[in-house]
Amino acid sequence: MPNDYNLAELISKVSNQQELFESAKEFQDMMMRYECAVMEVETKIKILNEEFSLRTQRNPIESIKSRIKSPASIYEKLSRKGYDMTIENMEQHIKDIAGVRVICSFPEDIYAVARLITEQDDIVILEIKDYIAKPKDNGYRSLHLIIAVPIFLANEKRNMKVEIQFRTIAMDFWASLEHKVKYKKNVENPEEIAKELKECADIITSVDYKMQEIEHRTSVIE
Ligand code: GTP
Ligand code: MG
Repeated sequence: MPNDYNLAELISKVSNQQELFESAKEFQDMMMRYECAVMEVETKIKILNEEFSLRTQRNPIESIKSRIKSPASIYEKLSRKGYDMTIENMEQHIKDIAGVRVICSFPEDIYAVARLITEQDDIVILEIKDYIAKPKDNGYRSLHLIIAVPIFLANEKRNMKVEIQFRTIAMDFWASLEHKVKYKKNVENPEEIAKELKECADIITSVDYKMQEIEHRTSVIE
């Protein structure tokens, strides 16, 4: 027979476990909603690709890569911003829990697809960062959108934030290498590497537009 103290401890443990269980369930539900939002955005983009390719006989979209942020990086980002790990803070302060990366053939395809997506009447644009019109100092180029997209569940409609990054194949190639280099430790001569990466970014920019121009000159006029 436990004494009073043990009984109190036991009750508190049980209720802690219950709380833990409930917040784990809430977290799982939230992640499920972000998965749904990613599916929603992917489908919208695939539909635009289908229609565009029927009209122009080419695909403006090369590939789509999606990801849901891991709990560890959600935690890292929230603590960096000075917030506690609550569902509310996650939904309010982290805009890239759901991420969709759209790799396009040519720069103009990026703007065409982005415009068609943002004009859809169930989409709300929350933020636009155009690192193509205004590249970052290191040479990074991409078009970033934060949008809100509705998802329909059994008993409710929820608006979910999704980050969409639009890039050409060349911009994506550059960003993958730059990302890898950024996290490498003990790189010899990092300034030289940064300078060469910037040179690559400039070359890639001119290749992107040169190839777009070739495409224009050779495309079939209907
Ligand atoms: P976080 O960087 O996500 O904290 O937010 P932010 O408000 O600075 O957003 P921003 O739109 O600048 O960047 C969001 C995402 O774009 C990053 O998580 C990367 O995936 C990508 N990105 C931004 N800058 C760079 C860059 O210089 N190099 C590479 N490789 N990727 C970048
Ligand atoms: Mg950033």
